[in-house]
Amino acid sequence: MRVLIVGSGGREHAIAWKVAKSPKVDKIFCAPGNAGIEEYAQCVDIGAMEFEKLVDFAKTQKIDLTIVGMDDPLVGGIVDAFEKEGLRVFGPRKNAAILEGSKAFSKDLMKKYKIPTAAYENFTEAESALAYLEKAKFPIVLKADGLALGKGVLICNTLEEAKEGVKSIMLDKKFGSAGNQMVIEEFMTGREVSVLSYVDGKTIKTMTSAQDHKRAGDGDTGLNTGGMGTFSPSPFYTKEVDEFCRKYIYQPTVDAMAAEGREFKGIIFFGLMLTEEGPKVLEYNARFGDPEAQVVLPRMKNDIIEVVEACIDGTLDRIDLQFEDNAAVCVILASEGYPVKYEKGYPIHGLEKFKDLEDNYVFHAGTKRDGNEIVTNGGRVLGVTAKGSDLKQARANAYKAVEWIDFKNKYYRHDIGKAIDEA
Ligand code: AMP
Ligand code: GLY
Repeated sequence: MRVLIVGSGGREHAIAWKVAKSPKVDKIFCAPGNAGIEEYAQCVDIGAMEFEKLVDFAKTQKIDLTIVGMDDPLVGGIVDAFEKEGLRVFGPRKNAAILEGSKAFSKDLMKKYKIPTAAYENFTEAESALAYLEKAKFPIVLKADGLALGKGVLICNTLEEAKEGVKSIMLDKKFGSAGNQMVIEEFMTGREVSVLSYVDGKTIKTMTSAQDHKRAGDGDTGLNTGGMGTFSPSPFYTKEVDEFCRKYIYQPTVDAMAAEGREFKGIIFFGLMLTEEGPKVLEYNARFGDPEAQVVLPRMKNDIIEVVEACIDGTLDRIDLQFEDNAAVCVILASEGYPVKYEKGYPIHGLEKFKDLEDNYVFHAGTKRDGNEIVTNGGRVLGVTAKGSDLKQARANAYKAVEWIDFKNKYYRHDIGKAIDEA
């Protein structure tokens, strides 16, 4: 089987690594890929949003299955473009990827189908949003409706801050057209957990839980980022929490999308907040999380191709999804200054130390080949993942491996998985 993966981050590297393990797979391509993905796949210089070129490539290269890792192409309708040409592709169609593509849509869906989430209002005019704030309780949360690289969420402590936020989202268009509409919602407190799942339109099978660290600095300080590290499983995701979410969140979401005529096939990523009133949905994503994929996929026992094909064929109920009884921690190595301003192009040393190790992985995010060297090429550069018999062991292993890698301006958080100590 010939597989094409669309995307270029640590998530796509983890997907490529997992796909390469499948005995069904003969050849992997990745568009556009990165310097790490090259180990498993032939990288092709086509951007993730160049649907026509991707479709042509899939046809001429006789690709049997395309797996889309990224949100932008999914929300933009890449699956529809492939299906129109009779190509087999894994991911939600445009009318279902809206679950991630529009926060206003997802909030309205949850309200309509009584799926627990924070109280909210949607706004299409800055004026009415500003008027609403006058009577609101603080802190309050502002969200640009569309995709904004995980940065379109503002938590505002005062009326002044919130007014500035509305202006920057809706009037100054800080996040572009993502801010044509916005959600203002109640601030929730509690532990956050990410649960990723495979969905075939009717059946949903959840993966092991994970926790992300979104802020740039130690102790959850600094700006929101795409994610600075993860651990899996979350000790706070108990059996009771799981039972509640199965009953009130997971299957109800899949059924709601089907009832709306938006059958969802692909990955649903549930961003959950474990509040005092019970688990509530913070957000939905329509793809694997990054870096969540980097701790979840290494623990997955199944052949990913079998699971993905079952999602496409609507036979997920026949899959017995299984995860290893261990733990994994991923520490993101970033360029100093991320997520604002950072330099690129510095040689990375030490990557070879990961070769042939069973329980240590280095997934590339922003890297590029430059002659004989691999150099930094982004804010998030690498994800260093390690497994261990439990979370503490996995964390110790991951931080040990972080030291094997060296590049100029290397920056990382020192407290990934620190919450484990409080469990
Ligand atoms: P989102 O992209 O919607 O997951 O938001 C990014 C981050 O903002 C989340 O991971 C939370 O840490 C925080 N956040 C979002 N919505 C809320 C909320 N209603 N209350 C508290 N924190 C929130
Ligand atoms: N790590 C969060 C995300 O992938 O959206």
